[in-house]
Parts: sequence; C-alpha cells; structure tokens
Amino acid sequence: MSAVLDAVDYDTKIPNNVGLSKDRKLQRALEKWHPGFIDWWLDMGPEGFMDSEVYLRTAVGVDPKGWAQFGFVKMPEYRWGILMAPKEEGRVIPHGDHKGEPAWQEVPGEHRALLRRLITIQGDTEPASVEQQRLLGKTAPSLYDLRNVFQVNVEEGRHLWAMVYLLQAHFGRDGREEADELLKRRSGNDDTPRILGAFNEKTDHWVSFFMFTTFTDRDGKYQLESLAQSGFDPLARTCRFMLTEEAHHMFVGEDGVKRIIQRTVDAMNEAGISDPTDVEKVRNLGVIALPLLQRFVNFHFSVSADLFGSELSTNAANAFTAGVKGRYKEADLKDDHQLHNDTYPVLEIVDGEFKWVDEPALQSLNARLRDDYISECEGVLRRWNKVIEKSGIEFQLKLPHQAFRRQVGHFADVHVSPEGELLSAADWAAQEDSYLPSDEDHEYVTALMQPVYEPGQFANWIAPARVPIDKQPGDFEYVKIEG
Ligand SMILES: [Fe+2]
Ligand SMILES: [Fe+2]
Repeated sequence: MSAVLDAVDYDTKIPNNVGLSKDRKLQRALEKWHPGFIDWWLDMGPEGFMDSEVYLRTAVGVDPKGWAQFGFVKMPEYRWGILMAPKEEGRVIPHGDHKGEPAWQEVPGEHRALLRRLITIQGDTEPASVEQQRLLGKTAPSLYDLRNVFQVNVEEGRHLWAMVYLLQAHFGRDGREEADELLKRRSGNDDTPRILGAFNEKTDHWVSFFMFTTFTDRDGKYQLESLAQSGFDPLARTCRFMLTEEAHHMFVGEDGVKRIIQRTVDAMNEAGISDPTDVEKVRNLGVIALPLLQRFVNFHFSVSADLFGSELSTNAANAFTAGVKGRYKEADLKDDHQLHNDTYPVLEIVDGEFKWVDEPALQSLNARLRDDYISECEGVLRRWNKVIEKSGIEFQLKLPHQAFRRQVGHFADVHVSPEGELLSAADWAAQEDSYLPSDEDHEYVTALMQPVYEPGQFANWIAPARVPIDKQPGDFEYVKIEG
C-alpha cells in the first residue's frame, strides 16, 4: 500500500495536515474552541511556568524519521496541531463483520454513537492527566525532568486537540457539544469529574508521576493501539500518529523509576547497607526504599488494570464486530479476525481457585488487551530488576497479581493479595496497608520533593539522567524558568 504524505500547514492558526483551510466551517468551529482551550491551559496546565522558556519538541510533520523539531517555547504559545498519520491508499477494515470492505472515511450511521463515545472517553483522559500533574513543576528533581513533564503535558494537550478535531469534523452538533464538555470536566472534582477513575486520582509527587506514566499512560498506549486498528480511518490515522508521541511518555515513566532505583541501590552500597527491608536506614539516606517503590507499583498497576474494563464485555465484542476497535497488532494475528467461533483463556475464580477458562473470544477482548498490556509491563519490571541485580542487593520488584485490588470486572468483589492468594475480608483489612502506599509513605516522599533547578544538577533521591533530550549536553538548561 502506498502512503500519501500530507504536508503540515503551519501558516494557519491551527497547524494541521488535515486540509483545514479547505473546510471553512470546520476551521471556524475549531477556532471557536481554541480560546476555551487556552483558558483551560492557563487555568489547569502546569502552575507557575507559563512564562518559562521550555525546550520542547513540536510535531512538524508525520514522517516517522523526522517529525519533530526542538526549540525553546513558552508553553501557552506551543503550536498544538492536528496531525494524522499518512493515509494508506486502499486500506480496508481489518476485523469484524465488515472485514475487507474499504475503510470508512465518514462515520457510518449505525456506529455513530459508539464511535462518539470511544473518542470522547479517549479525549477526556488527555486533559485529565495534565490536570493531575499541574503542580509537579514546583518540585522537579532537575530541569531535565521538569522539561519532560512539560513535554508530556503539551502532547497530552495535543491529543485533546486530535480527539476534538474528530468530534467536530465528523459528529456535527453533538460532536461540538462533547468538545465543549471536555474543557469543563476537572480531574478529581466531585461535581464534574473526569470520566475514568484513574484520571481522578492525584498525581501529587514525582514517584506517582513516574509510576503513572509507566502504568496508566501505558494503558493509554494499548487503547490507542486498538483504536489505530479502527475501520473508521480518520480515527485510526489520528491514533497512529499519537502513538509516536506516546513512546516518549513511556520512556519518561520507565526511565524515571529506573533512576530512582539506581540512586537507591547506589546510596545503599555507598553506606554499606545490604538489607533492602531495613527501611529506616535506607530512609536516613534520603532515598526511596525498594519496598516502598513496590507499594507504588501495586497501587498504580491495579488502578491501571481497571481501565481495561470488565474481562468479559459485550460492548467490547460489539465494537470489534462493528469494525470500530481492533486488537493489539490486529494485522499480525493469525486468525479470521472475526472470532465468532474462537475462544480465549480468561483468568477466573472457579470454586474458590484461580483457573484459566476458555471463554468466547469476542467477549474476552478486554481481558486479551489487558494480557498484552501485562506482558509489556512484565518487560518493564525485568528491566528495573536488572538495575537491582547489578547492584548486588537482593530484592525484586514484582507486578501484583492481576486480581489484586481490582474495582472493575470479575475480581471486584474478592480480596486478593499481590501474590495472588484469596483473602477473607478481615485478612485483607489487616494487610491492606502493607500492600499499598501509606499516608506515611506519601509524607516521606513528599518531604523529599524539593526542587532542583540548577542546570545539570539532580535531587538526591534520583540518579542523573543518562539519556539526553535531542543530544544536548548534561548541563543543558532545558527550562529557562524566568523566561
Ligand atoms: Fe495522550
Ligand atoms: Fe501519554
């Protein structure tokens, strides 16, 4: 299939490669939405840094080899663009009952409500995470990290634009209303919360931030991957381009935790502490003890696992069959891509024990996507554990069992330890605090979070960055705070 590369038009108010200047009505609708977005950004975006010059990448094209340009920008002046991956001529719907038919360029009437809902939910997570992270700049462990959180934030803002474009271009008046609502909900607000639970949790310090970008942003990646398979071509192309940006978010999370681990084991070795569970001694070094990190892994992994929804889901089956949402790497899977006669093994509790049960594959798509996600998370944990292993300290971080602390799906009414033992309600209540970050853990971590704004310097609790941004030298001033 040949790809058509559309040039990005930067002369317009809203940079885009979707031919906005040819569609006056849409352009006007988006230009009308623009000031509301800027107000939202000024109100809910990174607090205290709106005048700072930040070394950010901006998407200037969609060619995988050279899509981004780096330079200093004040965040409110960031060029949030509407970008889609190149159109593949002759693309067909990859799955479901319409498999093999030409991909839709317009929303099919019968799937309109479903598509609008999926796009709205995806769109809602984007500003939500910016809201959750808005205070982190005040305690950044370095200018490098400060720049990275801002990069993630502006790109989540761009992802909001991407979804708003789809709503406004393809869903008429309802789409415009949904686009307005996206600017009205607020993460954690009692009256107008964001749609999904994890996006109403606080991200109040950098340990949470790195865990969030590792586990929750990674759920986002899997949702985007399955929407990138959509038979609705504008959605598929939009998500494919978002995934190029998402890779950096995954890196920020994984590398951030890795550097925390590195610093902890280095400090322990320097002080001659070999027992990772001697938390008092480790704390006296001003670093983050490994068992404490484990509790954060438990929390963020379980909250993120819920985002995949119920293991067995008719909605997921319908979205697949409709050709609206596919599986992870749909094209590489060797089956009929319709699944009417297939089964998939799903973990369930049968007679008080965990068992893999063959369920109808169509109903099991959420479980399947979560399994794909879990195996990627296991890879992350393996890489983190290598750092510990190399240090000679005996400790391993583990992903909690997939039934641990779930609030959605068929494990929602059972109590399960991180190791996967079924517990009575009383045992759970007695143990819960040891599984999850306690108030004291949060207080300890929060007390460590003192900003370091000297170029090339890093807070004591995290190792210096090893991977420069855009090949800049170690003492590069990634953020000019005073502007
Ligand atoms: Fe995003
Ligand atoms: Fe992201």
